[in-house]
Amino acid sequence: MLTKIKNKIREYPAARYLIKRAQQTISSSWKAESYVGKVRECLDNIDLNWQPKKHAKPQSALIEITNACNINCLMCNTKFQSRPEGLMSAQVFERVITELMANGVDRAGLHTVGETFLYKDIATLIEIAKKHDFKVWLSTNAQYPQRMETLYRKFPKMITDIRVSTDGATKETFETIRVGGSFDKLIESLDIIHRINKGRKHYRIGLTIDSILNMNNIFEIRSYFDVFDKYVSSHDITFGLVTTLNSLNDGKKNDNYLYDSFPFNHLIRSTVPCSQPFTNSYFTYDGKMTLCCRDYNGEITAGDIMSSSLDELWDGEQAEKIRQQHTKPENLEIDACLNCFGPYEFISSTTNNFVHYLYLKVPELSPKEFGDVIYSFLEGMNKCMETQDINALKKFVMKAFDHVREKNVSFSSKHLEAQSLA
Ligand SMILES: C[S@@+](CC[C@H](N)C(=O)[O-])C[C@H]1O[C@@H](n2cnc3c(N)ncnc32)[C@H](O)[C@@H]1O
Ligand code: SF4
Ligand code: SF4
Repeated sequence: MLTKIKNKIREYPAARYLIKRAQQTISSSWKAESYVGKVRECLDNIDLNWQPKKHAKPQSALIEITNACNINCLMCNTKFQSRPEGLMSAQVFERVITELMANGVDRAGLHTVGETFLYKDIATLIEIAKKHDFKVWLSTNAQYPQRMETLYRKFPKMITDIRVSTDGATKETFETIRVGGSFDKLIESLDIIHRINKGRKHYRIGLTIDSILNMNNIFEIRSYFDVFDKYVSSHDITFGLVTTLNSLNDGKKNDNYLYDSFPFNHLIRSTVPCSQPFTNSYFTYDGKMTLCCRDYNGEITAGDIMSSSLDELWDGEQAEKIRQQHTKPENLEIDACLNCFGPYEFISSTTNNFVHYLYLKVPELSPKEFGDVIYSFLEGMNKCMETQDINALKKFVMKAFDHVREKNVSFSSKHLEAQSLA
């Protein structure tokens, strides 16, 4: 229901803009407390023995229009794929979206792995989506500012939702993580969106910024809120913890980038059982339905959309076999899933909410001080998760929020831990 309302609002950029304006006028203290509310709810719902349940139909979708990428980010490393690089044909694209619509999904992102704007003739696909009144959202590394602008000018009513992935707030960090990327191009792209939006956030294009958060950028997280302030409101920046990439592991359990850049081992667990095969559908460029948003090597596919309908694939034998392996992980044979590790989802969302709370409550911290507080927070959670003590975790997290509320941020995780466990 909520998704339907959100989708309706997306159709009317003016309404969305007014809602965003109203959000901006909400007092920062009210906004800050809403982050605490989200965290409390998230922590109250932790279930370490959670078992996935299959949805009758896919809830959302991503369509990989290409798996090729112009750069090679450290945490993503698309170059490691065994699949050849390719582009989705117009026929496959049309078939995918008509099948999605027949199953109640009328919106999708145009990527899984790969760069959206590397698809030079993306206009042909957008024209097809427009013909079917199918909505799209785009995620990009923002290295093709002109292509982005041309596409917007051609389809101003279709290109209303762009997520820019930005893993650093400085040129040095951005270009270290986003190997081969240019920070200048990123800023040029953001400036184009700013101009299209007539200098108003969310006016025509709803822009969001996503970033990973790890030791490579922890001491510049505070800077994001200054560097990107011209383009987005603080709450439209999301920080996510890095997950391992199945293809990177090459049969080994440890992905060096994940473990080297995130020294909180107790916050990391196997992603199995995973919600993805039970919830959403994804399509590779050659028309295979896969049950994973980053199926590098096409190992989690459930059949071909050109020869079967979406519901046949969703309920088909191949999809069910994959799901059974997730409900009985002792039978798991899919390499990608066997090698898939990452922080618990509740740790990732709690950390993102904590970063935002810290920014709203104590914006005067320097980037280094800000990073130290986040580090202590992660360290404290790591300690609690060593014994998987969820009660201790809840106490620790809520105490950390209390300290920030009181602007008492010189805490060390040990200090907080002693207090919260007392
Ligand atoms: C795979 S990219 C594809 C779209 C486009 N190329 C981009 O960079 O936005 C989609 C998102 O996944 C994120 N991502 C890639 N590898 C990740 C990882 N190992 N952990 C967490 N997020 C990751 C990227 O930062 C990006 O925001
Ligand atoms: S995150 Fe996006 S830009 Fe970076 S390598 Fe992956 S697909 Fe390419
Ligand atoms: S590789 Fe498997 S466990 Fe990892 S995200 Fe994909 S489906 Fe889930």
